[in-house]
Amino acid sequence: MQPLNLPCRRSTNTKLPVPFFVPVFVLLLSFASRTSSCTEQERSSLVEFLEGLSKDGDGGLGMLWVNSIDCCQWEGITCSSNGVVTDVFLPAKGLRGSISPSLSNLTGLLHLNLSHNSLEGTLPMELVLSSSIVALDVSYNHLSGPLQERQSTYSSLPLQVLNISSNFFTGQLPSTTLEVMKNLVALNASNNSFTGPMPSSICNHAPSFATLDLCYNTFSGIISPEFGNCSMLKVLKAGHNNLNGALPHELFSATSLEHLSFPNNGLQGVLHGPNLVKLTNLIVLDLGSTGISGEMPDSIGQLRRLEELHLDNNKISGELPSALGNCTSLKYITLRNNSFRGGLSRINFTQMDLRIADFSVNNFTGTVPESIYACRNLIALRLAYNNFYGQISPRIGNLPFLSFLSITNNSFTNITYALQQLKNSKNLTSLLIGTNFKGETIPQDEAIDGFEKLQVLTIDACPLVGEKSLSGYQGSQSWRC
Ligand SMILES: *[C@@H]1O[C@H](CO)[C@@H](O)[C@H](O)[C@H]1NC(C)=O
Ligand SMILES: *[C@@H]1O[C@H](CO)[C@@H](O)[C@H](O)[C@H]1NC(C)=O
Ligand SMILES: *[C@@H]1O[C@H](CO)[C@@H](O)[C@H](O)[C@H]1NC(C)=O
Ligand SMILES: *[C@@H]1O[C@H](CO)[C@@H](O)[C@H](O)[C@H]1NC(C)=O
Ligand SMILES: *[C@@H]1O[C@H](CO)[C@@H](O)[C@H](O)[C@H]1NC(C)=O
Ligand SMILES: *[C@@H]1O[C@H](CO)[C@@H](O)[C@H](O)[C@H]1NC(C)=O
Ligand SMILES: *[C@@H]1O[C@H](CO)[C@@H](O)[C@H](O)[C@H]1NC(C)=O
Ligand SMILES: *[C@@H]1O[C@H](CO)[C@@H](O)[C@H](O)[C@H]1NC(C)=O
Ligand SMILES: *[C@@H]1O[C@H](CO)[C@@H](O)[C@H](O)[C@H]1NC(C)=O
Ligand SMILES: *[C@@H]1O[C@H](CO)[C@@H](O)[C@H](O)[C@H]1NC(C)=O
Ligand SMILES: *[C@@H]1O[C@H](CO)[C@@H](O)[C@H](O)[C@H]1NC(C)=O
Ligand SMILES: *[C@@H]1O[C@H](CO)[C@@H](O)[C@H](O)[C@H]1NC(C)=O
Repeated sequence: MQPLNLPCRRSTNTKLPVPFFVPVFVLLLSFASRTSSCTEQERSSLVEFLEGLSKDGDGGLGMLWVNSIDCCQWEGITCSSNGVVTDVFLPAKGLRGSISPSLSNLTGLLHLNLSHNSLEGTLPMELVLSSSIVALDVSYNHLSGPLQERQSTYSSLPLQVLNISSNFFTGQLPSTTLEVMKNLVALNASNNSFTGPMPSSICNHAPSFATLDLCYNTFSGIISPEFGNCSMLKVLKAGHNNLNGALPHELFSATSLEHLSFPNNGLQGVLHGPNLVKLTNLIVLDLGSTGISGEMPDSIGQLRRLEELHLDNNKISGELPSALGNCTSLKYITLRNNSFRGGLSRINFTQMDLRIADFSVNNFTGTVPESIYACRNLIALRLAYNNFYGQISPRIGNLPFLSFLSITNNSFTNITYALQQLKNSKNLTSLLIGTNFKGETIPQDEAIDGFEKLQVLTIDACPLVGEKSLSGYQGSQSWRC
């Protein structure tokens, strides 16, 4: 899709290898025949598209495109060597107005990319049902209305990538239209106002289907067992919808899954150990704010590729399995606001490489295991609102990237010692240690001096200051999807 690889333009360079003794007229002839220009019909299809844009919203194309009669030379247009328009690549051109269905008259068009513009109106279904388009990206526009269910004249469409995300589309996804997309690999419908059930039978029609992103819509109903038939599915994201029910057992037959996320839905049920372990390719598992309960299964330790585990704001109980220490790829773990109990010392963190670890708002107890300080790349550690006790380890000063530490509302002791150790954390910007150190005297100002980068410090019932700098590690929940 690089506009630089214009085959028409490349052919102008073909004169270089031609021996210099070739008569000039032959050279000119061959030159002319190879740079065949686009047909009148293709040119008028593009002109009609241009006319559909608003006068002050054509991104200057009106001026640029008149310069040449050959539309293969136009900005954003790529042709094949025989002068057929194959690419219309006009992302972020400031385009406004509507998308003309005339583009469907470009019968050799393979890639249409109009993302990051301000186009309005509906998406012409002629483009979705095109007999040539392989990739259609109209993401980040202001398109609206439902996608009309349309009977296709073809039994199989070439479309592989359809990105209609970040628009204002409404209604249900057109299921019979999806049925003829037998070559579909990726469907991105995120950040719209789609309703109805998730499109679940895609894999039964499109055997290579790999990416489905439905985040930020109002899809409802259950997660269909049909997803179990998606043997090539790598990415399944449907966070921030109104889905309900449990994760179906069948889903865990989709063993290619690398990214499974359903945060902010009204699900129920538990993480079933024998199911989870089938997803050995999993890199991201996000079931935050879904309502799942039960315990974390031992089999989590067998997910050796797992980098992100988000289970915050659920009802998960019991102790953390020591097998978690075997998740050596894990970088982000968010268990905030569950009902975990027991100690973290069960887990040997030595082989792990955590960046952000959030164990806050649970019933954890015991001391913080020394092995956690082996995670040299730790940036944020949240332990607030638990029953941890003991002293702050001197090893905390050896974490070069630690910039956020919250231990509020636990039973840590020896504040003077704690501050001495924390002073060695040169990168600390936020330190929340209030409601600990029962009965101890808060040290003098000089004990607090020496925190070079500190922007936020809460020691006791002090009000929070500089909340903005907190949001980086606190508010991740709001955009995760
Ligand atoms: C496609 O081209 C035909 C004639 O070549 C024309 O009649 C028709 O209106 C065009 N379709 C669109 C959608 O522009
Ligand atoms: C469309 O273009 C944008 C901007 O260059 C790019 O990020 C996006 O990946 C392209 N879409 C497809 C489907 O290739
Ligand atoms: C739209 O989504 C497709 C498929 O997920 C992706 O390849 C493409 O890069 C996305 N486009 C943008 C502009 O993000
Ligand atoms: C879907 O498109 C959105 C932009 O609207 C993008 O942020 C997201 O990464 C895309 N999803 C996938 C899986 O490519
Ligand atoms: C959602 O879509 C709207 C409209 O295109 C866009 O302004 C907004 O940035 C998108 N949000 C995200 C998170 O991509
Ligand atoms: C999976 O596919 C098979 C054969 O294509 C079909 O018989 C079965 O009903 C499908 N299963 C689900 C849950 O859709
Ligand atoms: C904890 O999670 C529950 C849902 O399980 C939610 O209702 C509640 O607001 C959350 N509390 C906090 C403090 O985040
Ligand atoms: C971690 O994995 C090793 C090798 O697979 C296994 O022997 C060990 O029991 C596992 N540790 C835990 C705590 O499950
Ligand atoms: C912690 O345990 C106590 C009693 O053991 C219980 O009342 C409380 O609800 C628990 N808190 C959480 C967050 O689970
Ligand atoms: C943790 O594991 C490391 C090796 O991975 C080992 O050297 C160390 O003794 C273990 N620590 C505990 C407390 O079991
Ligand atoms: C301090 O933290 C910031 C943000 O986490 C990071 O970019 C930077 O590299 C760190 N600096 C040092 C000296 O580790
Ligand atoms: C605090 O810790 C230091 C070093 O471990 C120790 O010498 C001191 O007695 C402790 N103070 C209190 C009040 O426990």
